[in-house]
Amino acid sequence: MIEVKNIKKAFGEKTVINDVSAVMKTGQCNLIIGASGSGKTVLMKCIVGLFEPDSGFILYNGKSFTGMKHEERTEIRKEIGMLFQGGALFDSLTVEQNVMFPLNMFTKNTQKQKLDRVNEVLERVNLSNTNKKFPAELSGGMKKRVGIARAIVLNPKYLFCDEPNSGLDPQTSLVIDKLIREITTEYNITTVVNTHDMNSVMEIGDYILYLHQGKKEWEGSNKEIIFTKNQLLNDFIFASDFLHDAKEMRMLEESGKIPRIRNTDNLKPL
Ligand SMILES: Nc1ncnc2c1ncn2[C@@H]1O[C@H](COP(=O)(O)OP(=O)(O)O)[C@@H](O)[C@H]1O
Ligand SMILES: [Mg+2]
Repeated sequence: MIEVKNIKKAFGEKTVINDVSAVMKTGQCNLIIGASGSGKTVLMKCIVGLFEPDSGFILYNGKSFTGMKHEERTEIRKEIGMLFQGGALFDSLTVEQNVMFPLNMFTKNTQKQKLDRVNEVLERVNLSNTNKKFPAELSGGMKKRVGIARAIVLNPKYLFCDEPNSGLDPQTSLVIDKLIREITTEYNITTVVNTHDMNSVMEIGDYILYLHQGKKEWEGSNKEIIFTKNQLLNDFIFASDFLHDAKEMRMLEESGKIPRIRNTDNLKPL
């Protein structure tokens, strides 16, 4: 569990995160949503310690990360996996070398142990037998999956994904979302995802924190968001007439007035 308590962060005169609090539970996908520039990345960087908040606290499983000494923080950092925006793979390294990188950095395992672990996580993201390929030879969705494999190779307790669907088509986005959700429950990870993708919100939003101009404007689950009367949130999430209609349809489904029309549980990775 990650607790965010009254975090504030300014750059010069400009307050970017304004007194934000949240509880992000273990085994859940916790989403930070909001328009571009609303503060999602800055908040995520404050949570992982890449930015120091001006005030407030971050607790990892009850331990105050904000007050920790450098060495103690390193212990928590080892438990954090990150999927960076754009994947951030090393272009000159193969898939295998990319995924092995954290193992080389943080473990003293033998080459055989490391290779076994790399193959295990590659299999988990459905990328067996791509070990010797270079990132340039992979599709966008495959690159993200390599990024996910690398993020989970050290068995993290916490997984952070900044806009995991940026640059992907809608179907591949769904596959990536499903993978993130499956991994989260399977390994009981506290997962935090930054997104402005409406599909992700509905598919994996166990907990959703909506940021508007650096403030928490709304929080709740994907079940609750359907029924929200918050105008800013409605305008953001259900912006088009089409999505507005879809929301009304889902409200009817959720209230049991009509049966569920479609589900994506059987989608397979491409
Ligand atoms: N290192 C920085 N220095 C100054 N301003 C920054 C910095 N990083 C982000 N900002 C500002 O903070 C605001 C929120 O940015 P960001 O968290 O990246 O938004 P989002 O991820 O929601 O699109 C923006 O106005 C951005 O210009
Ligand atoms: Mg961002």
